[in-house]
Amino acid sequence: MDARTISKSVTKIGAIDWDRRLFDSLIPLPDGTSYNAYLISGSEKTVLVDTVDPTMADTLMQQLATVPKVDYVIAHHAEQDHSGSIPRVLEKYPGAMVIASTKCKGMLVDHLAVPEGRIRAVADGETISLGNLTLEFVHTPWVHWPETMCTYLREEKALFTCDFFGSHLATTDLHAIDRPRVYESAKRYYAEIMMPFRGIIRTNIEKLLKRDIGLIAPSHGPVYDDPSFIMNAYKDWISDTPKNEVVVAYISMHGSTRKMVERLMAALVARGVTAYQFDLAVTDLGKLAITLVDAATIVIGTPTVHVGPHPTVLYATQLANALRPKTRFAAVIGSYGWATKAVEQTAAMIPNIKAEVLGAVMARGLPTAKEYAELEKLADTIAAKHRSAGLMG
Ligand code: FEO
Repeated sequence: MDARTISKSVTKIGAIDWDRRLFDSLIPLPDGTSYNAYLISGSEKTVLVDTVDPTMADTLMQQLATVPKVDYVIAHHAEQDHSGSIPRVLEKYPGAMVIASTKCKGMLVDHLAVPEGRIRAVADGETISLGNLTLEFVHTPWVHWPETMCTYLREEKALFTCDFFGSHLATTDLHAIDRPRVYESAKRYYAEIMMPFRGIIRTNIEKLLKRDIGLIAPSHGPVYDDPSFIMNAYKDWISDTPKNEVVVAYISMHGSTRKMVERLMAALVARGVTAYQFDLAVTDLGKLAITLVDAATIVIGTPTVHVGPHPTVLYATQLANALRPKTRFAAVIGSYGWATKAVEQTAAMIPNIKAEVLGAVMARGLPTAKEYAELEKLADTIAAKHRSAGLMG
């Protein structure tokens, strides 16, 4: 795609990866992604902001074919999808220097073999003049790795954020005009990449908001010409208050656990609680992650396999634990054939989720009237907890 102007001195280049379906061999990308790079043309210096994934380096090099000089290459983040093509760019521009945080400098040397002498480390708040333009570097760690930073182009009020505020979305839209679609993609991105670092993200946002921001240009997904759209979304996602929502994530081998899930879902809805049901055998884990951003309660449903929880439940539970959602309450339901330690083992899987465990309902074989009554009681307890936490109207 040809370069597209996003502000007076900035054009967006980079690559759209329509077909990528997995990131880090872990994260589903149902809508593909993009690797955005930007060119800033100052009166004296030209800057390339980030590069692209090495698989699409040829696309970037074609876009740079008509660019005679690049003085600086800003590496906001050492991960390969943004910095992986830096060696090709440095080869084309022997006079160019990479600009990065000190931590990022080390990573670029270690991970991408960028020569140390070609990297200039910049301090938090340091500026570089491009002649008529000024770049200010703002260290914003943990969005997504510890070395990440953003760049603010003062004269045009443009903020370049790399992963921060990004969305895995392949689209030809220059700006975030399809807001529902961008919102879901950005929330998925936040849930999978940023959520474990909520506290640091809050600090980073406060730091960035000291500047007058007219547009946000991330390195995945469309540009935000109305920054309040994504800023307000982030403020909601990182808030400490969850919503009146329950995530019920389960596996069922022969139908018993599913019957229990269905009864609990109906009981929760009858009590005014919003509930989401995920069969882990088929669900997109990204969808589960999105829902965990807001849920006040998580209920794990598992059959018993060799005394413990089903392995798929273990995997999803470990993932949820790593994402550190603000979930306040948890419960386990499920079934067993003759003996079980599934409740204890499942509860032990979520130490990072500082949730109060509200109880467990386990059925030997098919659930009976006894277990159904216990599920109704569990729904009562969940609704009461949500009410006393001020989450229900
Ligand atoms: Fe888009 Fe953390 O890389």
